[in-house]
Amino acid sequence: MERIRLDYNYVSSAFIKGGMGETDFEQYKEKARLGLSRLIDLVNSGSIGFPNLKGQNTVAMKSFAKEIKGSVNDFIVAGIGGSSLGLETLCDALLPFGYNSLSYGERGSKPRIWVADNVDPSKVASIMNTCEPDDTFICVISKSGSTVETAANFNILYEWLKSNVKDISKKVVVITDPDKGIMRSIATEKKFRAFDVPSNVGGRYSVLSPVGLLPAAVLGMDIDRLIKGGASITSDNYEMILVLASIYMYYMDNGRNMNVMMPYSSRLKSFSAWFCQLWGESLGKRYDRSGKEVFFGSTPVPSVGVIDQHSLVQLFKEGPSDKLVTFIEVLNHESDKTLKSSFPAYDYLNGHTMGELCNVELKATEAALKNTGKPSLKLIIDVLDEYTLGQLFMLYQYVVPVIGLAHDIDPFDQPGVEEGKEYAYGLLGRDGFEEKKKAFTEIYRKQNDFIL
Ligand code: PA5
Repeated sequence: MERIRLDYNYVSSAFIKGGMGETDFEQYKEKARLGLSRLIDLVNSGSIGFPNLKGQNTVAMKSFAKEIKGSVNDFIVAGIGGSSLGLETLCDALLPFGYNSLSYGERGSKPRIWVADNVDPSKVASIMNTCEPDDTFICVISKSGSTVETAANFNILYEWLKSNVKDISKKVVVITDPDKGIMRSIATEKKFRAFDVPSNVGGRYSVLSPVGLLPAAVLGMDIDRLIKGGASITSDNYEMILVLASIYMYYMDNGRNMNVMMPYSSRLKSFSAWFCQLWGESLGKRYDRSGKEVFFGSTPVPSVGVIDQHSLVQLFKEGPSDKLVTFIEVLNHESDKTLKSSFPAYDYLNGHTMGELCNVELKATEAALKNTGKPSLKLIIDVLDEYTLGQLFMLYQYVVPVIGLAHDIDPFDQPGVEEGKEYAYGLLGRDGFEEKKKAFTEIYRKQNDFIL
């Protein structure tokens, strides 16, 4: 089964008190259609480009990956947010657990992978302590080219590499905007290899561009299958996008201001984080597109089954009725193991598989939530691979902007993030941000009375 499926029984009024009735489905689908038509207009006008990534040429990425294979032991990516979360999702989902601890041979002569995202110094320090500079390649990813965290990590890594290797230009690859930004100028000036993030593809919508695909190719993933999976989401029709967007919008309007993403697989843990960034940054907006103050959005909550059955599920089931839970079920888990009990008390496990246990527990949680009137829906994939991961990415890259645009929200900007970035530039003394420093000083007043 290649097709991703959506089971939305437990959002319906047939099962959940206050759930969606037929008229609600019709009404919200109409709203979703409006969002979709606005999105398609933006795509047709060239302002938004993520849907067009399905037509991209992958030859250069694959030949770059071929060059890297067997030539270095470590591949360090400097990037953050939309420039790192997609890659981390790919690594968690498609590489074996403990990939970096495997030997070079076990990894098939592919490099280990490190992501320098945070500016917690201990992270980049431990990456540098683990890697040998003359056996390392640096990949810097920044759409804007100006992100301070990426600039800091890149500079530290670059200095370290420069003082240890002869021709550094052969050890760096840049992924950035084709024309604009500091990173593009650096790549040109230093003659670094560079791959483009199309100008109309924003950070959190870029996983299926070189941002995710180039490192994925280096790690031996089938990037054409990722693209194909993504493309399949819209190849038949937009039905799943419309239904999913309708459900989320209905529940946002009906007091469910927490949106929980709970895949039942540790391999999808980072997918929850990727989803949360996409949802939060795209939909959390103070103003709509006409400038009216709306304070729109709902809070995405990352979760993982079955682990959170021993943590958050108590709250999901018996706490406030403010959540909608989205489960992801993987029908056939990789490396599944049949259980054989060595102790009579555990005989009930005999003959079942670990994957089966995972999916039984998912169904049990669905039932438990339903029993207290808590709504949930479930995406079902047969196996977790490049194709289905591409589907999951593309599905939400559509659903989220459809919801935003249906409410006349701009799901492609992030003005709230920009403000904080600009204050930080001002505080660090960056030219042109003197006014921001002043504004910060005005705002950031505190009284000692409130400090213990
Ligand atoms: O979605 C976005 O645009 C942001 O989350 C960015 O991905 C993040 O801020 C990093 O930006 P950049 O890729 O420009 O360094």
